[in-house]
Amino acid sequence: MAKFMIAPSILSADFARLKEEMLAVEIAGADWIHVDVMDGHFVPNLTIGAPVVKSLRGATGMFLDVHLMIEKPEKFVGDFIKAGADMITIHVESTDKPAEVLKSIREAGRKCGITLRPGTDLSLIKPFLADVDLVLVMTVEPGFGGQSFMADQVAKVNELHALREKNNYSYLIEVDGGVTAETAYDVINADVLVAGSFIFKNDYTKAIEQLQKIKN
Ligand code: DX5
Ligand code: ZN
Repeated sequence: MAKFMIAPSILSADFARLKEEMLAVEIAGADWIHVDVMDGHFVPNLTIGAPVVKSLRGATGMFLDVHLMIEKPEKFVGDFIKAGADMITIHVESTDKPAEVLKSIREAGRKCGITLRPGTDLSLIKPFLADVDLVLVMTVEPGFGGQSFMADQVAKVNELHALREKNNYSYLIEVDGGVTAETAYDVINADVLVAGSFIFKNDYTKAIEQLQKIKN
């Protein structure tokens, strides 16, 4: 079993020191940087947009995993591609045309991902599974860091793992929300763990090592 890849969510970092924070988690062993983009409509919180991603791109060589929690991502994906996002993940509930948006990301030479709210049935994303690089399972209601892990979402991780085996799909399974050194044991079938509070509120190296060693 390959060990977990770790994607610290900079939502929990010090926004005035993002360059240093990214470097610190890189040194601490992180694999990706997870960037939470919120528009105040799709979710009841506002964070950052493409100009910040552009600055992050200029400040790090790390893989930028951009999680779009915005209405009508088709209006903005071009900006995030230009800004230098490596992976762009969209919510199936946020657009009438997920297939088109995913295709535009792929055609720009970037990785694409699909995700869903905890209350959304997995069947809604099944039409896209053959064509995505990543499926993100939300284990909290999107919008805020620091919430508790929703154990009832673990079944989605296991079903996605089984579907990948059965159909020879190639997506990575990522889990986002309330991930800690305890809850990560529940999602052993995932490949990538996003963690905000657990990393940034603790010693970065120790926190990342604790998560990594759960699966070896
Ligand atoms: C929630 C975001 C998450 C969040 C994770 O909408 O997508 O990435 O920042 O934070 P923690 O790990 O604190 O739950
Ligand atoms: Zn996220």
